Amino acid sequence: MSAVPAEARTLVPVQLLHDAPLAPLTTFRLGGPAARLVTATTDDEVIAAVREADAAGTPLLVVGGGSNLVIGDKGFDGTALHIATRGFVLDGTRLELAAGEVWTDAVARTVEAGLAGIECLAGIPGSAGATPIQNVGAYGQDVSATITEVVAYDRRAEETVVLTNAECAFSYRHSRFKQDPDRYVVLRVRFELEDADGLSAPLAYAETARALGVEVGERVPLERARETVLKLRAGKGMVLDPEDHDTWSAGSFFTNPILTAERYAAFRARVADRLGPEVAPPAYPVGEDGSVKTSAAWLIDKAGFVKGYGSGPARISTKHTLALTNRGEATTEDLLALAREVVAGVEDAFGITLVNEPVMVGVRL
Ligand code: EPU
Repeated sequence: MSAVPAEARTLVPVQLLHDAPLAPLTTFRLGGPAARLVTATTDDEVIAAVREADAAGTPLLVVGGGSNLVIGDKGFDGTALHIATRGFVLDGTRLELAAGEVWTDAVARTVEAGLAGIECLAGIPGSAGATPIQNVGAYGQDVSATITEVVAYDRRAEETVVLTNAECAFSYRHSRFKQDPDRYVVLRVRFELEDADGLSAPLAYAETARALGVEVGERVPLERARETVLKLRAGKGMVLDPEDHDTWSAGSFFTNPILTAERYAAFRARVADRLGPEVAPPAYPVGEDGSVKTSAAWLIDKAGFVKGYGSGPARISTKHTLALTNRGEATTEDLLALAREVVAGVEDAFGITLVNEPVMVGVRL
């Protein structure tokens, strides 16, 4: 990790609000107010706001696109820092994005520029700065494959640092940033994309290949790959539409469980008992030690929480069992009650404890 020389900082007035609602900044449209809400439009403003909060010992909540946040009904008694920085710089196949860039728009621009590597991540809500935190992934691509460096403010060292891909310690929906959640504030994300003459990266996901009528491993025109992913995501309610409550979610609410070979065998036995010996749960090998990833959506479904489950203001999406949704009138407590019911039901049926994917603020499952 290398330090970035401190550049001369100008003191710019940032937008500051007191007792400000946070719900509109989240895709769930849930959560109480923040004691202070700072909106920062430059890296210097971000750093100044972080330093000020840290110097005062005030808790800090970094808000990007708000697509992976569950904020408690009581809100946040500290400084919420809304990252609204902008910057899209393409130099050959190298891309640098400011943390506040809207992710799906940045993907569209790389596709327009004829560059491959993140086209299957179209339609994912949220900001560019959030992508390294949980190593955002979908349809066979995740950002760890294309990120070269992350520029971040290190609150412990009190300086701006550059983390290499290896230093980010990426794994499935995880990274160094998630491991040490209060240490870094992402400022910029750098990617190395591929110029494949207007073609996508080799397709790595069976569902996308099938929808495109090609084999896994083949390349297709970039825009076709992007459009296909958008269509698949929309069919699962995973593209945010302010008019459609079925999409007022955080995408997947739970991560897909990774089971050791031994736990997987025990799980297979539970499935056979409950659903019959011929039923095979989804299983994708991960790593070399026989571990497999199974599907949280499948577990939820087979535990009896089918699409559209629930009669209250928080329900399972009618399009995908992994998305919990706010039907418009929900509180965070309604959402958590549903999430707890799902966790308990899956545990009871299959002996597997689901883990939430979104970040919880002031609440827990
Ligand atoms: N399934 C069901 N019921 C449903 C939906 C799915 O039983 O209602 C089963 C099916 O067996 C299906 C399997 O679940 O084959 C997997 O479903 P899907 O292909 O939709 O993928 P996923 O594992 O549920 C993951 C990511 C998504 C990403 C898709 C596509 C996680 C936690 N989720 O979902 O990411 O878009 O793959 O690659 O890894 C997100 O993280 O917020 C997110 C939306």
